[in-house]
Amino acid sequence: MSYSEAIQKASASITRFPLIPVRGIPLMNYIANNWDSIWAFRPDPSDLLIATYPKAGTTWTQEIVDLLLHNGDAEICKRAPTPVRSPFLEICSPPPIPSGLDLLKKMDPPRVIKTHLPFQLVPPGFWENKCKAIYVARNAKDNLVSYYHFDNMNLTQPEPGPWEGYIHKFMQGELSWGSWYDHVKGYWVEREKRNILYLFYEDMKENPRREIERIMRYMDLSVSDEVINRIVELTSFKNMKENPMANYSCVPAPVFDQSISPFMRKGEVGDWTNHFTPEQSKMFDEDYEKQMKDVNIPFRTLI
Ligand code: A3P
Repeated sequence: MSYSEAIQKASASITRFPLIPVRGIPLMNYIANNWDSIWAFRPDPSDLLIATYPKAGTTWTQEIVDLLLHNGDAEICKRAPTPVRSPFLEICSPPPIPSGLDLLKKMDPPRVIKTHLPFQLVPPGFWENKCKAIYVARNAKDNLVSYYHFDNMNLTQPEPGPWEGYIHKFMQGELSWGSWYDHVKGYWVEREKRNILYLFYEDMKENPRREIERIMRYMDLSVSDEVINRIVELTSFKNMKENPMANYSCVPAPVFDQSISPFMRKGEVGDWTNHFTPEQSKMFDEDYEKQMKDVNIPFRTLI
């Protein structure tokens, strides 16, 4: 059964999953229920981890990495949808959708593995085996806006509720995968010790070529300028939006209802200004100062 067929078959049983805390981090119940197997996962030292808070640019980075690994070959990188080429470690339900762990068992290393787990919940095997890891962080307000639209269209995620309340849930770390603030800080403080490449969505937007070259060097790859140019083009927002193997059209409604909001929604920096009122922005900024005061991560000030 193909990935899409499995999702179609499972969609009758799809429901918005409640959150259950795992070591204090709210995770969807099926992740929490499968926690022991996730924690016990042993990667190969050659595996690469792509870690993000949800909606920070994961899919974009997965596509760049896959293209770098295949010398910019667009056809090879259309061999399967993103979550099959680059499995999502902790996603594991509902049957018969193959779990990330099941997909990984059938793949030979080196594998590219996606996770949204905060640093302290990443299976320790990744660090014991000195796996490479790329972390992508995105401006908090844009990340929040993107997550809000995603929670509306992904009918397995908890109900987002009204916008104003959603801002508070984000600030209080009550969304799936927990606090954005702790997430970005957790990887930031560990980045040197664990050799994590820490990227920013805004830098990728500003100069994709520069950031793709950083990823290439980190992966110890060397591809020609011509191939880099091609990867820049193939991973533009417009091209990924039209690529059925990257735009999540493999996940049909009623799981991802792209008529509510497309997975490839806007792909812009600063869209938060279209959502936050001046009062909401002020309240958010004051709280942000408090939550981020202990670590100086060079996020851009947007607008
Ligand atoms: P928006 O909702 O702001 O449009 P993730 O892959 O972590 O779920 O992140 C999804 C976000 O990244 C969405 O943001 C999506 O549009 C954006 N995105 C995906 N591919 C992109 C690309 N090639 N260029 C810029 N943004 C991209």
